[in-house]
Amino acid sequence: MTTEPNLAHHRPQWKTHIGFVLAAVGSAIGLGNIWRFSYLCYKNGGGAFLIPYLIALFVVGIPLMIMEIALGHKMRGSAPASFASISKKWEWLGWWQIIFVMFGIVLYYSVVIAWCLNFLFFSFNLSWGTDPNNFFFQDFLMLKQTPFDIGDVRSPIILSLLVVWILNWLIVFMGVREGLERANKIFMPLLFALTGVIIFWGLKLPGAMEGIKVYLRPDFSRLSDIRVWMDAFSQIFFTLSLGFGIMIAYASYLPKKAAIVRDSLVISCINCSFSLFAGFGVFAVLGYMAKTTGQPINSVVRESIGLAFVAFPKAISLLPHFSKLFGILFFGSLVIAGLSSSISIIEAFTSGIVDKFHYKRKTVVSVLSVLGFIGGIIFATQSGLLWLDIVDHFLTQYGLVIGGIFECFLIGWIYKTVKLRMHVNRYSDWKIGKWWSFCTRVVVPVALMILLISSFKTELKTPYGGYSWLALVLIGRDWLLVTLYMAIIVASHPWRLEPSERMIK
Ligand code: ALA
Repeated sequence: MTTEPNLAHHRPQWKTHIGFVLAAVGSAIGLGNIWRFSYLCYKNGGGAFLIPYLIALFVVGIPLMIMEIALGHKMRGSAPASFASISKKWEWLGWWQIIFVMFGIVLYYSVVIAWCLNFLFFSFNLSWGTDPNNFFFQDFLMLKQTPFDIGDVRSPIILSLLVVWILNWLIVFMGVREGLERANKIFMPLLFALTGVIIFWGLKLPGAMEGIKVYLRPDFSRLSDIRVWMDAFSQIFFTLSLGFGIMIAYASYLPKKAAIVRDSLVISCINCSFSLFAGFGVFAVLGYMAKTTGQPINSVVRESIGLAFVAFPKAISLLPHFSKLFGILFFGSLVIAGLSSSISIIEAFTSGIVDKFHYKRKTVVSVLSVLGFIGGIIFATQSGLLWLDIVDHFLTQYGLVIGGIFECFLIGWIYKTVKLRMHVNRYSDWKIGKWWSFCTRVVVPVALMILLISSFKTELKTPYGGYSWLALVLIGRDWLLVTLYMAIIVASHPWRLEPSERMIK
């Protein structure tokens, strides 16, 4: 890679304020809101999931969103640069976050976008036939029984994956203003319109109300299961793109005068309202499916992770009119939502590398896109779904949550939250009070730690998803350890330009 001779700091900046908000909303709203949120809701008993989800939003989501946006704005750097500005000893944390997200989450995330792209094309002639369960798991994925029985690479998936990575590359390559900002200005209104049509349509289906009842009925007995809570809290990290290094990088492109608090609230609320609304569409369709097939709602889908790819195709086939169009709209929205998030992950990593090593941005993006495509191949094999399930579980429940606890410790106790609060209150029109410091220093880390330990204990008794210990250790735990090791190595490399020099003093 060539290095830029001039080390002077030229940071890109958003062209417009709305451009930043849309890009952050675009990062937050993704497959997590439709595919992941709906299958977690379904798996955890519908409405039972909403209570811990909303608690997690207010207790952890909003305070951390303010913290990440404030930090990126103050330090004017990517996650590693921002953490290194506080203490070089903690730089590894920023690298770890962006490395396991770039070489973990986005690898399988792009594969799920690739599935959506396939299903978008399948919608043209309703290729899934009368048994979408069988079509998805047997014909499309050709799913094997265990993760170590890898089988072949599925050619339809790998081809779409290539298209996804070309799109990822193209958008991020064009830069913050011309690529990310412009793409999100098109993607977001389109996504809202498409989702609106789907929900409206879904609610008019016969049986929809039965589905909605399951969605909204709280089942308090499920709240004693620690796994429901852990799913909800880690989903908040996933859905708000917290602990990904994204919000820090995006906020570092803001001008000095910024509406830190207002934007954080707006981004969090739009994102979670979107999930809640999309949930209406999903459960309406499930209700419709249950009514037409005569099965109870909780058994219409074999494996919850395949919900979007089983329930929707089934319901689409059952529609009396415009079924193909409905399929195209639904999978088209998933592709758009997915792309606006995957590009943000690539941007967060790119900005980390450019900040530290001063490589040319375009070279970094191109190399990353090739690596991302190659890294995603394992998830495009016949055991890809099993790998995806394990890696997603470990990176989200352990990676994001542990990263979040360390972040709170670093900012709350080493840097001192009060300094960040003063920064926010100086530049932002909406002010934050002491409650926020207390939340990020005490409430969030303590709540996350309790959850983490309890869910870890439960998992020691019953291995996640019924997988073998060997698979969980080698694929899940080691994914986290190897990326941690990589992070420590990168962090030990010296800086050419002190990271703290870019900070707003
Ligand atoms: N926040 C993104 C999503 O929910 C990653 O899909």
